[in-house]
Amino acid sequence: MATHAVVKTWTEDPANGAELEVARVIASQFRIPPVATVERFRERGNINLHTFSVVTEDGQPYLLQRLNTDVFAFPDRVMDAMVSWLRAQSSALEQRPELNWTPITLVPTLDGDSCLDFRVAGIPNVWRLMVLIPNSTTFKSLSEVPGRAAQLALAEQVGRGLALAADLTSDLDAHAMDVSLPGYRDTYGYYAQFDAVLGMHRDADAVEPYLPESAEVRRATEHLYRLSANIGDAEAEARRYDTELRPYLDLVQEARGQALMIADGVRAGWLRKTAIHGDTKIDNFLFDRTTLEVKSLVDLDTVMPYTWLADWGDCVRSLCNVAGEKERDLRQVQVDREVYAAVARGFLATATTPQREEIALMVDAVEAIALELGLRFLTDYLRGDNYFMLGEEDPADLNRVRAMVQLTLYERLREARPELEALFVERLES
Ligand SMILES: Nc1ncnc2c1ncn2[C@@H]1O[C@H](COP(=O)(O)OP(=O)(O)O)[C@@H](O)[C@H]1O
Ligand SMILES: [Mg+2]
Repeated sequence: MATHAVVKTWTEDPANGAELEVARVIASQFRIPPVATVERFRERGNINLHTFSVVTEDGQPYLLQRLNTDVFAFPDRVMDAMVSWLRAQSSALEQRPELNWTPITLVPTLDGDSCLDFRVAGIPNVWRLMVLIPNSTTFKSLSEVPGRAAQLALAEQVGRGLALAADLTSDLDAHAMDVSLPGYRDTYGYYAQFDAVLGMHRDADAVEPYLPESAEVRRATEHLYRLSANIGDAEAEARRYDTELRPYLDLVQEARGQALMIADGVRAGWLRKTAIHGDTKIDNFLFDRTTLEVKSLVDLDTVMPYTWLADWGDCVRSLCNVAGEKERDLRQVQVDREVYAAVARGFLATATTPQREEIALMVDAVEAIALELGLRFLTDYLRGDNYFMLGEEDPADLNRVRAMVQLTLYERLREARPELEALFVERLES
């Protein structure tokens, strides 16, 4: 077929400049009117290599995305989870149309599937087409809006968005959902990797006792239990016995119980398993261009069963960290309590489905996710940076810095606990 031929030429030589032609041919495999224009989708200067904007002859804009199958080895699960999440939202919205929330609309392929899935020269090609949500904008950080009041209002909208995402998917049967990214958000697994990497092994046999039971998770993550080929023995040793890192190694050991609490709750069943988004940084929220009200949560590749507390925790730990994730001066790492309070306010004013015992864990969840991420950065640094890959321009100790930042943030969050807990008292007593 023509699609195959065009994509094949491109796959064999991705630098041949044919991507717009490829995108046009792919787009024509979906149920849309004839395509008028195709461009690379640009987000404020960043060229997004896997996303194209497509406009049809009737003037309707769409986004065409290629799924990263290097990261997502189970594209059918990614799409199933995405479809379930969107269906749940749409049907919940029928009862609550006043919410002003616009879930992504996926356009089916000519065959009626949720994505186009084919192989070219052995390489998986998975593409999906979505309607571009109109009049929307995104932000990479709160500081992109001018003025403190506007930033806090935006943080409050993020809280509202988190609440709506949780509420509108609360009827979804998360137990029936497959994990699309085995090993992701698995705190037990992250600790097991840390424990194994401390032993500085290189061969598979030595780390066998640490590996996960599930064959699938094992396949996906076993390379994360030993030193990577990126690092030599002397460097691995230097990193492992770096005296400045020592307190952070001790911290993740001491805090193990706290880090595992949420994972324990879900595993043991005293915490409800819900569908989570899995990547709730601010860039994935869409806001109304005029009013800056939150209107959607996009980027649904990591939708999976867990607890909404993880989405809450990840979002708040990233928003309230005033220094950003790469700050070398750790004195700058502070909790922005007003931002934290604003997200909490937006969430509590909107959310109706969270249970009392979940709300009682919201402060813990933010700490736990900061700790977990710190642990992941730390382990990756000790292992030789083969998960959070370094770019050519990145300093060699980037993951060391990132680990110190998250673990310092965790400590600052602990110190702020009394004040942060007060934000939830009213709701817990009502
Ligand atoms: N349906 C949509 N309507 C409008 N904008 C969208 C839509 N989906 C994604 N975007 C925009 O495209 C950006 C990138 O898409 P996303 O799915 O987050 O992919 P990734 O982060 O992997 O590049 C988003 O941050 C958002 O600005
Ligand atoms: Mg995104």
